[in-house]
Amino acid sequence: MIKLVASTVQRGSIIGLGSGSTVAAFIKALSETESSKSITVVPSSMQIEAVALEAGLRVGGPHLIKELEWVFDGADQVDKSLNLIKGGGGAMFRERILLSAAKKCVIMVDENKVVERLNRPLPVEVSPFARWYVKDRLEAMGGRAVIRVDKKGYPTITENGNIVFDVDFGEIEEPRGLHYKIKDIAGVVDTGIFTLPSLRIYVARLDGSVYTLDQGSLY
Ligand code: A5P
Repeated sequence: MIKLVASTVQRGSIIGLGSGSTVAAFIKALSETESSKSITVVPSSMQIEAVALEAGLRVGGPHLIKELEWVFDGADQVDKSLNLIKGGGGAMFRERILLSAAKKCVIMVDENKVVERLNRPLPVEVSPFARWYVKDRLEAMGGRAVIRVDKKGYPTITENGNIVFDVDFGEIEEPRGLHYKIKDIAGVVDTGIFTLPSLRIYVARLDGSVYTLDQGSLY
């Protein structure tokens, strides 16, 4: 799937890159295409910037975000209405900026990430100053909020200097509504729910075959 998607990137294009292991594999595949030397990438995180530089890609800065035609990204979960949960790596705030600015978004996932209804804990990026207040508000909304920590127990700090709560709401019935309700809490920077207008999702089955889920008219 990843090689197939990488082969669709046109010569000379400026593309946005999400974060995570799927995007890292995409960069490797992209660097092996003929057009790779003519492409400029705008990364969403230091993780993916480092992978892109290592692969020899030309990396551009945030001044290019307004020129993005395409963004390529992964996701943690996808439902049948093409709502996404992202933020497993804590990069959702910058990923959303790229995905919102681009005309077209491509998401690549394995089939085990496709579900009827979103149900995994939702990443929520929060200002450390507001952590106790936001935790209370999230729990009043029915979520069980746990601060994300590293292997040694230290809180994970995002590239924006914030912490991340992983909030278990069980099955999420109205992803878009929940996103805006949480965003409305003072101290919340972003959530991991994405409901994007121009989206193509490539899904890799376990047997290696690929199918797509589309929204809007991309092609
Ligand atoms: C990064 O914060 C995320 O939004 C990633 O896109 C998501 O976690 C998917 O990551 P993998 O490609 O590593 O599964």
